[in-house]
Amino acid sequence: MKKSLTILITGATAGIGRHTALHLARAGHRVFATGRKPAALAALATEAAGTKLETLELDVTSAASIDAAREEIANRTKGNGLDVLVNNAGYGLMGPLEEITDQDLRAQYDTNVFGLVAMLRAFVPQMRARGFGRIINVSSMGGRMTFPFMGAYNSTKYAVESLSDALRMELAPFGVSVSLIEPGAIKSDFADRATATTRPLAGSPYAPILANSDKMKKQFEATEVGPECVSRAIEKAATARRPRARYVAPGRTILALLMMRLLPTSWTDALLRLAVGLTRRKLALGEGAHPALG
Ligand SMILES: NC(=O)c1ccc[n+]([C@@H]2O[C@H](COP(=O)([O-])OP(=O)(O)OC[C@H]3O[C@@H](n4cnc5c(N)ncnc54)[C@H](OP(=O)(O)O)[C@@H]3O)[C@@H](O)[C@H]2O)c1
Repeated sequence: MKKSLTILITGATAGIGRHTALHLARAGHRVFATGRKPAALAALATEAAGTKLETLELDVTSAASIDAAREEIANRTKGNGLDVLVNNAGYGLMGPLEEITDQDLRAQYDTNVFGLVAMLRAFVPQMRARGFGRIINVSSMGGRMTFPFMGAYNSTKYAVESLSDALRMELAPFGVSVSLIEPGAIKSDFADRATATTRPLAGSPYAPILANSDKMKKQFEATEVGPECVSRAIEKAATARRPRARYVAPGRTILALLMMRLLPTSWTDALLRLAVGLTRRKLALGEGAHPALG
């Protein structure tokens, strides 16, 4: 039988985090499923009855909440702490970059980047001291390619990729591994929540495209698969003898990443613009408009 690990997952009240918490608990691991919503945590605990899943309130943007969680974990594990930390909490801020407010952009970084770093700072010291630990950071295919109207979100995932690469090298001598999980389009609350962040300004030149954000969401949803492949990738990163630096899930997402690497940028720009209808005709621009728009 495989060794039972002590694992903490952030953002376990919905989507990938919730599915992974249940998956790992059912595989026999002790899972601290954390999140901001007590009612959602209670429902998860009920569903996980009979496993070693425990819930804990945790908002990754609150230093007080992280401190309290660290103390609680120390108590509940009698000072042993975590074997594995899964930084999963995150959301997508969508919209044309020039129309996104600083406040919204900062909030996006507070959760997806600073929240993740704060979690590392809270739990890595004990792993380093023990000479064993695994950090698993949920990034995105959007951490390696950028989509129009997703620049704010994608840039946070690029940051997660780079921070994880540095951390992997820094922590290797201490016996702590760092893996990135790079999901493609996965069924969860993500798309609904991301679309809800699109707030075109009054008179926005992008309005004709953003008016179709429901259509964009449907296109995205048509390519979605369930969260099982991501849960399995996280399990592999947690249990493999030699965890990999990156896990892409589902596997077919690699094709899109390869395409980005091999095709000229002018081609991939054109393809991605077309995918969201970002053309001069759709924007109803006249002949005098910037020639860069098709
Ligand atoms: N779904 C996809 O297609 C996809 C693709 C690539 C990458 N990802 C990444 O996968 C991760 C999980 O996303 P998902 O698809 O499962 O989306 P989801 O269904 O919207 O779940 C996101 C989870 O993160 C939590 N969260 C957000 N802010 C938080 C905070 N400040 N503190 C603690 N928890 C917080 C949410 O909790 P609340 O309910 O309290 O908001 C929720 O539990 C994210 O990092 C996302 O960027 C998703």
